[in-house]
Amino acid sequence: MTEWQKTGWRAKPRVQMPDYLDAAALANVEARLRQYPPLVFAGEARRLKRALGAAARGEAFLLQGGDCAEAFDQFSADAIRDTFKVMLQMAMVLTYGAKVPVVKVGRMAGQFAKPRSAPTEVIEGVELPSYRGDIINELAFTPEARIPNPDKMLQAYTQAAATLNLLRAFSTGGYADVHQVHAWTLGFTESEKAAKYREMANHISDALDFMKAAGVDSDNAHTLKTVDFYTSHESLLLEYEEALCRLDSTSGKWLAGSGHMLWIGDRTRQPDGAHVEFLRGVQNPIGLKCGPSMTSDDLKRLLATLNPSNEAGRLTLIARFGAGKVAENLPRLIRTVQEEGASVLWVCDPMHGNTIKSATGYKTRPFELVLREVQEFFGIHKAEGSIPGGVHFEMTGQDVTECTGGMRALSEENLSARYHTACDPRLNASQSLELAFLVAEELKSLRHDRRQAEAG
Ligand code: PEP
Ligand code: CO
Repeated sequence: MTEWQKTGWRAKPRVQMPDYLDAAALANVEARLRQYPPLVFAGEARRLKRALGAAARGEAFLLQGGDCAEAFDQFSADAIRDTFKVMLQMAMVLTYGAKVPVVKVGRMAGQFAKPRSAPTEVIEGVELPSYRGDIINELAFTPEARIPNPDKMLQAYTQAAATLNLLRAFSTGGYADVHQVHAWTLGFTESEKAAKYREMANHISDALDFMKAAGVDSDNAHTLKTVDFYTSHESLLLEYEEALCRLDSTSGKWLAGSGHMLWIGDRTRQPDGAHVEFLRGVQNPIGLKCGPSMTSDDLKRLLATLNPSNEAGRLTLIARFGAGKVAENLPRLIRTVQEEGASVLWVCDPMHGNTIKSATGYKTRPFELVLREVQEFFGIHKAEGSIPGGVHFEMTGQDVTECTGGMRALSEENLSARYHTACDPRLNASQSLELAFLVAEELKSLRHDRRQAEAG
């Protein structure tokens, strides 16, 4: 393989990226971003990589979640806090069930650029370029709004920096102290799952009281008081990614400074394409979305290109086939990984293969299909003898009505009430918690099987 340069992707075929009309304006923005501080640091990315390596071995579990697309006009401290809070709750449910540490990674502080299934959108006979995320153009359906504007990269950087600042404060400033396990329930008091959560929180409080009596509390055990919370996004807009790329003086390796973990989307994973070329050279942990069209040959090439030294935690394979399609796709890819002797972390994204259009015209996801894909994912891993190491959700702490179903039985008619996503439909807080309980059940039974195998 040729030596890597941060500009090397420019010579490769690219898809899903905008053609900026004003080259001078683009160059100006890139020059400014090159001067700005990186948002994340190499030591953090390496720590996350170690944690993901543990998840790949079944010694930890990845919870990755957040908006489909962060939006400039929905930017608020409350929204960030609420998503953070739901992720802490989910992580608590998973830790309680699985008895392993949960690695928390937000689709946050950089998730602004979107691949689209069609380059244009037609509404009432008018055809315009598709919306590609707030870092590129605007959602409004006018010709001006859909022109890619490089200045938006600066606004995205600023929003990402402010988001990360708040997340860092929440993670270490007392909010995430495990003794707050009850306080995190506020706002979700109505569902049956909330009652289940409170019951679990009571057990945790009991355990904490016991530990305190035995001399361990937040004052002397740092890990009770803080959480590690990481950021991630799809590395789609490569001008932005390249401009935030930095050489890490400790390791002499390049770091994508825009987020801790970056992933390659299902539409941009061409082995010879620009996105794979860029990500192969940065030291961050990276994700690779695997949809039904992923062939075993492509996967082999991608494993070799993206993780040539087979480093643990470097590569996360995010399976997103759709309920009912896992059995025909996941086993062959698991076997490819096994044949290659590749070290990967397998994660389930039960969102992107289950998007449908409701009779009322909304893009939605039936909660039953989301649940079913998660169950299929766990079932196949069990049958293939490999490790299901995490989940990847589009979710929010807000009480939105975007996915149908769940405990509160949201119907297609309810979707219009609070449908706020800038792109794909997200699970709301109560659906997210419900899903966490289901995943915890799966993890519990996995643990039980392992124990039996060890005993027998
Ligand atoms: C996404 O994660 O928002 C996304 C577009 O996923 P995929 O590339 O798997 O379709
Ligand atoms: Co999405």
